[in-house]
Amino acid sequence: MAKMWAGRTDGTTEKIADDFNSSIRFDCRMYEQDIQGSMVHAAMLAYKGIISQEDADALIGGLEEILADIQSGKLPIDMNCEDIHMFVEQVLTERLGDVGKKLHTARSRNDQVALDIRMYLRKEIDEITVLTTALTGAVTRKAEEYKDAIMPGYTHLQRAQPITFGHHLMAYAMMLLRDLQRLADCRKRMNFSPIGCCALAGTTYDTDRNFEAQRLGFDGICLNSLDGVSDRDFCAELMSDLSILMMHLSRFSEEIILWSSWEFKFVELSDAYTTGSSIMPQKKNPDMAELVRGKTGRVYGDLMALLTTLKGLPLAYNKDMQEDKESVFDAVDTVKMCLQVFTGMVATMKANRENMLLAAQKGFINATDLADYLVKKGLPFRSAYKISGQLVALCIQKNTVLEALEPETYRQYSPLFEEDLYQAIDLMVCVEKRISQGGTSVASVEAQIAYVKEALSL
Ligand code: ARG
Repeated sequence: MAKMWAGRTDGTTEKIADDFNSSIRFDCRMYEQDIQGSMVHAAMLAYKGIISQEDADALIGGLEEILADIQSGKLPIDMNCEDIHMFVEQVLTERLGDVGKKLHTARSRNDQVALDIRMYLRKEIDEITVLTTALTGAVTRKAEEYKDAIMPGYTHLQRAQPITFGHHLMAYAMMLLRDLQRLADCRKRMNFSPIGCCALAGTTYDTDRNFEAQRLGFDGICLNSLDGVSDRDFCAELMSDLSILMMHLSRFSEEIILWSSWEFKFVELSDAYTTGSSIMPQKKNPDMAELVRGKTGRVYGDLMALLTTLKGLPLAYNKDMQEDKESVFDAVDTVKMCLQVFTGMVATMKANRENMLLAAQKGFINATDLADYLVKKGLPFRSAYKISGQLVALCIQKNTVLEALEPETYRQYSPLFEEDLYQAIDLMVCVEKRISQGGTSVASVEAQIAYVKEALSL
């Protein structure tokens, strides 16, 4: 197939080389950004007197038509083209004749592709932000629903202290809030325009890069042309942020999977977000959560692939950089799907208050509170800790719980024990007494919920 870049060579290449070289299969999704960028480029060329206004008007009109035709399906994208940039320019030239050939004045595909990806990913960040906000809202609402549902809090996956399910869920809301902040930060750094860096060294034409940057919604321009065309930090940064986001979803998934097991029975997922087994009739599998956990590895892989591609590249553009797109597109597609399914899964998830409470009662998770009771009666903490531990050992030996021991038994261990000890080790009291900021008391959790709602205008 003859190439637009035929000249130094006759432009005829082997089919296998074309297939290997071309990126249109995956960069065609940037057609809108490519066309918008080209329209502003044509306007700038006329504004600076590099081409006539008449030519610019023809180019912009032609590009508008191409955009409309692609959107309506009238103009199918030709997969035999090398990339989306070549496709648009080729159609433009077919339709306008020689005027079409003027569009590529004072630019290169190197700054063009760098521009398109930034514009495309900027839009994706905005969409991911909306989806992450929706998920944070769903988690926060669930937390509100269960702000007084007692469950065991764990360390080392051993029952540690009583908390509420609302408190546990709000931990994830805080993670998601940080994810949103990271995305906003990434967008800020991404939002500088590389167009006008040209192939690598800038241009001899008297262009106005700020004119283009402003009209395309950028906050400024890339200040070094070599960097402008070879920088893919913003892809790596976005994928790092997405990897962290996926790590959060994956930890959450892991807990949901555990909680929905018969061993825990803390939550029940809605039928709409589970699957059955083809052989075992009793099964209700948390496939969505498992897939989110699984796809986390895939997003990490996307990040690693790009970092590895970039690590040995000399300045400026190298064709290796074409590999940026499949990784970053896969990462954003995967994350968007995961966020949507996760939001539905969390919103419809039901917690089993009785089972959570039962689990909390069985694990001596009020042993710290029993020790604190003695400390408040004047015993040094270490001594109180020891007595509490001995009472736990006694319970284990007698197969009972702290709440069920007789007052006389308590007094054999310390004369400081009085009837009010039962009140002090009541699980709801244990929770309610943890009023420190960020703690598990209903009031503290309500404050966390209010903070997140305010931060996200929910
Ligand atoms: N398809 C190419 C890419 O994605 C566009 C840039 C090509 N530039 C070049 N000098 N061959 O990177």
